[in-house]
Amino acid sequence: MSFYSYLVCLLLVLTINISGHIQNSHSFSIKEATIQDIQQAFKDKTLTSRKLVEYYIQQIEALNPLLKAVIEVNPDVLDQADQADKERSKGGSFSGMHGIPILLKDNIGTKDKLNTSCGSYALVGSVVPRDAGVVAKLRKSGALIMGKASMTEWGAMRSSRLPSGWCAITGQGRNPYYLIGNPCGSSSGSAIAVTGNLIIVSLGTETDGSILCPCSHNSVCGIKPTLGLCSRSGMIPIAPSLDTVGPIGKTVTDVVYVLDEIVGYDEFDSEATNSSKHYIPKDGYKQFLKKDGLAAGAVIVDKLSIPNINSVLNPALSGESQVERFVLKSSLNAYIEGLVYIFSSEEKTPTYGQEMLVAAERTSGKIGAAEIKVLEKMRKLDKDGFVTLMEKNNLDAIVTPASQFSTVLAIGGHPGISVPAGYHPNGLPIGITFGGLRGSEPKLIEISYTFEQLTLARKPPFYQMLTKPQYTTTQEQGITSSNSDPLIEMITSSN
Ligand SMILES: *[C@@H]1O[C@H](CO)[C@@H](O)[C@H](O)[C@H]1NC(C)=O
Ligand SMILES: *[C@@H]1O[C@H](CO)[C@@H](O)[C@H](O)[C@H]1NC(C)=O
Repeated sequence: MSFYSYLVCLLLVLTINISGHIQNSHSFSIKEATIQDIQQAFKDKTLTSRKLVEYYIQQIEALNPLLKAVIEVNPDVLDQADQADKERSKGGSFSGMHGIPILLKDNIGTKDKLNTSCGSYALVGSVVPRDAGVVAKLRKSGALIMGKASMTEWGAMRSSRLPSGWCAITGQGRNPYYLIGNPCGSSSGSAIAVTGNLIIVSLGTETDGSILCPCSHNSVCGIKPTLGLCSRSGMIPIAPSLDTVGPIGKTVTDVVYVLDEIVGYDEFDSEATNSSKHYIPKDGYKQFLKKDGLAAGAVIVDKLSIPNINSVLNPALSGESQVERFVLKSSLNAYIEGLVYIFSSEEKTPTYGQEMLVAAERTSGKIGAAEIKVLEKMRKLDKDGFVTLMEKNNLDAIVTPASQFSTVLAIGGHPGISVPAGYHPNGLPIGITFGGLRGSEPKLIEISYTFEQLTLARKPPFYQMLTKPQYTTTQEQGITSSNSDPLIEMITSSN
């Protein structure tokens, strides 16, 4: 994209700032509003779901040509909005997500007019057997399915040369703070759309870093839940022993509103979600949105180290890359066999190739003795490393800059929450990640919420580089991509 087309986009942005606010007699502004604000406006009858959805459709039309965060808008979303408005007008009690639109990463299946394509032309036109487990739960809560978000194609499993945030269908997703900056992936569109006010909340998925990293790079909050807390059924998989699905929003509160509606058992992902009942607190997660999460006596334990951290962080040493390869083949083949219909159009491969998919295809795709050994090695690395460290030191959470700790959380199925923390002088945001042992979401929510309320670091996008003439097509790596040992600080509460 040339500098001149950026100027055109800048004009669009300015127009949106003037006309994009839907205001009414009570001066309610949707931009940067939270779910709580919106639910209050519904109650006060100063806003309807239809008005809300119309606002986001308008935002997508104006900003998506620049940001490329959205692949498809659901043709039925306005009808869903009208239905929600009708239900509320009759009175009663509703879930926190009732009447709220949500955007889904393009690897999360919906049985409706939307395509589920992983950003790839190869799956456009395919018909899924049913809604993904989390989508079924969202529909039940009264949430509105807004559409599909762009992503790093195939969850970055197509080719190592594929830039983060690029997929064939939309092209390169843009970081709204620093337009030549890395938006990070693979849930890139889900994070960009939320931060750019193209939607209020979204779902992303994470195998290793795919929620935490784009949240950090786009100044939004995201939860990568404990493995098994939320169903992965109907999600285009990478490796079921690592895959998770979780919410993205501008505030910790917004993501908790979504989390409350997507957790729990699903018969189509029964083995993993069977454990969810041990994790979900009675009365849900909103009760942990309280400011004393870092109670007066929080103790910071510094300079602790995980003895096997170098093996853990190196996917070739830990076995993570092997697992992704041999499991990708079997899980992807199972997904494709489960489709009701597959219309196989040609993948747009010449640009970046597909050597990772080819490497996966060359494996047996079967879980034999050698593969089980690799999986056991990963479990042992987790147990001897992170789990032992947390238990021995009686730690509640571990805090790291950006998403550098995602691999440690990934191999053990542990949860993490990313919260906006600040900005690089070039405009690129950076987040902070709080991670903990399986099932520690309540504590992590308390800590993240307190951190957020004390810092209030998030700012709306800057759109830097829109006005600077030195546009370069170089894919700039984000400030967080480094293979050095992460700076690790531990937090433990004194009580
Ligand atoms: C799904 O893909 C088909 C084929 O490209 C397209 O015609 C259709 O409009 C897409 N669906 C939506 C909701 O965009
Ligand atoms: C779920 O857990 C129960 C015990 O809590 C067990 O009896 C049952 O077999 C498990 N189901 C699956 C599908 O793993």
